[in-house]
Amino acid sequence: MFELIKRASLSVLSFMTALLLTVPLLTVSVPAHAEQGKVAEREMTQLAGTEFWQNVRAGEEGYTTSQFPEHGVLISTPGQTWYILKEKWMSPAGAVAIFGSIAFVTLMYIVIGPLMLSAPRTGRKVKRWSRLDRALHWSMAFTFLTLAFSGLMLVYGKHFLKPYIPTDLWGFIIMLAKQYHNYIGPIFGVLLVCVLLKWWRKSIFKKVDFVWFMKLGGMVGKHKGSHPSAEFSNAGEKALFWLLIIVGAVVAASGLILDFPIFGQTRRDMELSNLVHMLAALVLICGFVFHIYIGLFGMEGALEGMVTGEVDETWAKEHHDLWYEEVKAEQANQGETVAKKDEVKGAKPNEQTS
Ligand code: HEM
Repeated sequence: MFELIKRASLSVLSFMTALLLTVPLLTVSVPAHAEQGKVAEREMTQLAGTEFWQNVRAGEEGYTTSQFPEHGVLISTPGQTWYILKEKWMSPAGAVAIFGSIAFVTLMYIVIGPLMLSAPRTGRKVKRWSRLDRALHWSMAFTFLTLAFSGLMLVYGKHFLKPYIPTDLWGFIIMLAKQYHNYIGPIFGVLLVCVLLKWWRKSIFKKVDFVWFMKLGGMVGKHKGSHPSAEFSNAGEKALFWLLIIVGAVVAASGLILDFPIFGQTRRDMELSNLVHMLAALVLICGFVFHIYIGLFGMEGALEGMVTGEVDETWAKEHHDLWYEEVKAEQANQGETVAKKDEVKGAKPNEQTS
């Protein structure tokens, strides 16, 4: 028994001694470690060729070619601010804005109702959109809507979908959303440039557009049904066009910064781009809730134009009177030119016979 106690006390004693010896060693090993790091650094610059690469291949610590500005910072504490701004502020505010916009157009439909033609259709058609215009519009619409859907899934999916489906399925869906968003995003930028080049000319604001704005497009209030004058695009469409171009450019640029993190972007740059991207995309989505409402339900005859390329004369006269007059004047001019050509053709044989 005595032997046992003696052994136990000897073990405790040796443990305590070891502990007492290693604590100061540990404290001095920190500067020693730093010193080792410096030596390795010095060696790294001194060692040339084979020896250096031998060390790299051996997985030796400290042999890196990384020039990244944040190299060595493992935990980025300011990232917490980004997390709070994104998750606690922007994400709920965005949900309120999107549901708010949808609720607003639903209310518009119930209270004001769709804008119907005030005269019967004539059955005569006017060419409004070319095949290229329509292809561009529907490509943009498809790209934008699917990007909006996958983007919203990335932000809100964890709240609305994840708790209700199996984990594996959730993982698959969110992986698909992420890949789709990353790869299709740049196509939005390309389409945006095409839209700008194709439609900028008819989207320049003129004096007539201010009157259209003052009368709220003849959609509500005391001017309801008054059909203020408009060119090919009315003031609302022009505003939407520039919103798409300007805010869309911000979405595309910030998206590219996030998509290609190989140009020395720091974590701060990525966080800022993420917030800007989200905010700009939310503004666009809300803006286009109104556009889609008008196109699908809010205005009789508008969708027809973007589907077939042609609109009824009554629609053209009521919604875009200045454009309609232009088209008519052009048709009259063409008619005159054709008549003159026919006259000349008809006169020639007479001239020859006489
Ligand atoms: C279901 C979705 C959509 C529908 C039903 C729709 C419908 C329409 C219609 C009917 C027009 C022609 C208006 C007119 O003739 O005056 C139009 C024009 C246009 N749409 Fe859409 N659209 C949709 C989505 C989008 C999206 C997602 C975008 C872009 C992100 C977009 C951008 C445009 C632009 C730039 C114009 C030309 C406006 C102008 O300057 O005259 N559309 N759309």
